[in-house]
Amino acid sequence: MNIGILTSGGDCPGLNAAIRGVAKASYEMFDNVTIFGIDDGYHGLIHGNYTKMEPYQFSGILTLGGTIFGTSRQPFKEMRNIGEDNIDKVKSMVENYEKMNLDCLVTIGGNGTHKSANMLSDEGLNVIGLPKTIDNDLWGTEVTFGFHTAVDIATDVIDRIHTTASSHGRVMIIELMGHKAGWLNLYAGVAGGADIILIPEIPFEHHKIIEAVEKRTVSGKNFSIVAIAEGSISKKESAMSAKEMEEYRKESGYFSVAHRVADKIQTKTGFETRVVSPGHVVRGGSPSAYDRILSTRFGVHAAELIKDKKFGRTVALENNQISSNKLSEVAGKLKLVPKDCEMVEDARRLGISFGD
Ligand code: F6P
Repeated sequence: MNIGILTSGGDCPGLNAAIRGVAKASYEMFDNVTIFGIDDGYHGLIHGNYTKMEPYQFSGILTLGGTIFGTSRQPFKEMRNIGEDNIDKVKSMVENYEKMNLDCLVTIGGNGTHKSANMLSDEGLNVIGLPKTIDNDLWGTEVTFGFHTAVDIATDVIDRIHTTASSHGRVMIIELMGHKAGWLNLYAGVAGGADIILIPEIPFEHHKIIEAVEKRTVSGKNFSIVAIAEGSISKKESAMSAKEMEEYRKESGYFSVAHRVADKIQTKTGFETRVVSPGHVVRGGSPSAYDRILSTRFGVHAAELIKDKKFGRTVALENNQISSNKLSEVAGKLKLVPKDCEMVEDARRLGISFGD
């Protein structure tokens, strides 16, 4: 039994726990198994960069952040394009799969990774996916590993910002990752006690944000906490074409949505306003206990699917049970925050503003 494992897309805590889960379960389940670690995601499969692993190399990595195999972003939309290097990426990946004489390729990643995994499955390769991303925006699973740890880290950032906000009487804006989906920002905003939560799924209006800040002032609070996802947009922008939006943002003089919102708040209210962007910090370090368990169980289930020869599937958590979906059903499907989901409704009942 030869199994290849690759990690692709943004890194996050839990990747090594997932790798360890696949490996240790495979060593337990199969009499004779060889595991290949493929370097830097699909780049390694394209260019034939892989290593035959030894069992001891999967020890001591449960708590290790990042990925021992490395990762990269190989945009799905470029997979069938032949670039200046004149390499047919799909053909190369199939050839290297065959050179390793793989019985299965395990791909661990987010949306883009799953689209390429599904494409390889359609090419006839035996592929199993594991859902990974701090964005939690993969359809078909209640949660992706990496998300829980990122919520913990982001919540700690918001907690710490509270003390400086109240000491200085400032409006503090924390901008978190999440280009398309606002799950991380929503959960960390509620957990961190943010007063205003802005996410891509709910376009905001600047005057509503200012009203929320001023309402706090009237109620005697000397500070406000705004949690904003990097992909949040105003209602005005949501009606613009991509080109108009680019022009509008350039004219604002600010690259990030957080700085544009900060400028409006400070200009309109006179309150000192600061922006904090923890960026990749929320993807760093050791996985939470929850993510260690989820990643490990995803990995074990992937080994089960290999044993049962149920290829072309990706592992999932549904109704708190480990299950799996067809890659073809998951690939390219985003799971966005429903505007009326319970978490949003509960936050509104708490008096949290979504700027709308
Ligand atoms: O996809 C996960 C993610 O962390 C996004 O939330 C973020 O916008 C993006 O990756 C950052 O990409 P990179 O690590 O390539 O800068």
